[in-house]
Amino acid sequence: MKILITGAAGFIGMNLCQKLLHRGDQLVAVDNLNSYYDPSLKQARLGQIEASSKGSWEFHKLDISDPEALLTLVKSHPDIAVIVHLAAQAGVRYALTDPFAYARSNLLGQVAVLELVRHLPRLRRLVYASSSSVYGGNQKLPFAESDPVTHPISLYAATKGAGELLAESYSHLFQTPMVGLRFFTVYGPWGRPDMAPWLFSQAIRTGQPIRLFNHGKQSRDFTYIDDIIQGVVAAIDQPSLPDGLLHRLYNLGNNRPVELMRFIAILENCFGKKAIIDPQPMQPGDVASTWADIGRSQAELGYHPMTSIEDGLRQFTDWFQNHVSA
Ligand SMILES: NC(=O)c1ccc[n+]([C@@H]2O[C@H](COP(=O)([O-])OP(=O)(O)OC[C@H]3O[C@@H](n4cnc5c(N)ncnc54)[C@H](O)[C@@H]3O)[C@@H](O)[C@H]2O)c1
Repeated sequence: MKILITGAAGFIGMNLCQKLLHRGDQLVAVDNLNSYYDPSLKQARLGQIEASSKGSWEFHKLDISDPEALLTLVKSHPDIAVIVHLAAQAGVRYALTDPFAYARSNLLGQVAVLELVRHLPRLRRLVYASSSSVYGGNQKLPFAESDPVTHPISLYAATKGAGELLAESYSHLFQTPMVGLRFFTVYGPWGRPDMAPWLFSQAIRTGQPIRLFNHGKQSRDFTYIDDIIQGVVAAIDQPSLPDGLLHRLYNLGNNRPVELMRFIAILENCFGKKAIIDPQPMQPGDVASTWADIGRSQAELGYHPMTSIEDGLRQFTDWFQNHVSA
């Protein structure tokens, strides 16, 4: 099956490309390799994909907020059957520095990718990344797909929520099945340097203090990368959406939230070293807790996260120590 993947050089993109190539799919992959974090990590991920590709993938350095460039690309691949759209400006805090990066990639880029459905006669479905952040200040736990998501508390969340609404309208207008996946704090080897597993590991390793927001009174439904990839592949392969729907949202989380202090204790164990904690007030845009209700994705996608936080962090820290000492 030919699949277009955006954000292929990203954390989730790389892991997905490897999985799909391994099972024999043909990939057309794009990424603009921007410098939100060190582009050499993105280049290294592309090297990993290349090593497992056996020639059945092609990579294009391309910005999804350039609709003409995207259109030119897909015109030479009219047999694309599935789009997996992962490219986005990620991260909650960076929106206070560069809000327009979010508008370009997550709004204009989302429309440019959705527009492709008009030009791909054999397209079976479009799967795109949303985020647990759309639940915003939701007080009801765990977060279910049927909960209202009208109170985003960060610009990132607002653009991800807008992406869902844009997909809703395009699926209706062009009768194309679409699936939005709300990922919950994904971690694992080849992860992102702006996220807690990497930042905390780096601090423990080098004896620097960990800046712990809301004085550590936070919990996250950390979800291991292999479990997330199982969910994304299930969304690609799902034969049809239930009840004749054209657009469906699924939480991909772990359903086991972890208090940040426990998270740090597990990392201390992995490194055999104590962390230095620097308690800080709550950051604007952050939420205190996330917790995924995964009943719908279990029932309709057969999604079953298997990885405990202890095993997942061991995998991550083993990779991390090799990576930083390479
Ligand atoms: N990792 C998580 O915990 C998490 C949680 C919720 C949602 N998500 C979503 O999942 C998706 C993948 O996240 P990730 O963690 O792999 O992030 P990532 O930043 O590692 O990957 C995103 C990739 O998209 C590329 N990109 C960004 N803007 C682009 C543009 N305009 N044109 C082309 N390429 C562009 C980046 O260069 C990057 O390689 C994103 O949509 C993100 O919002 C991730």
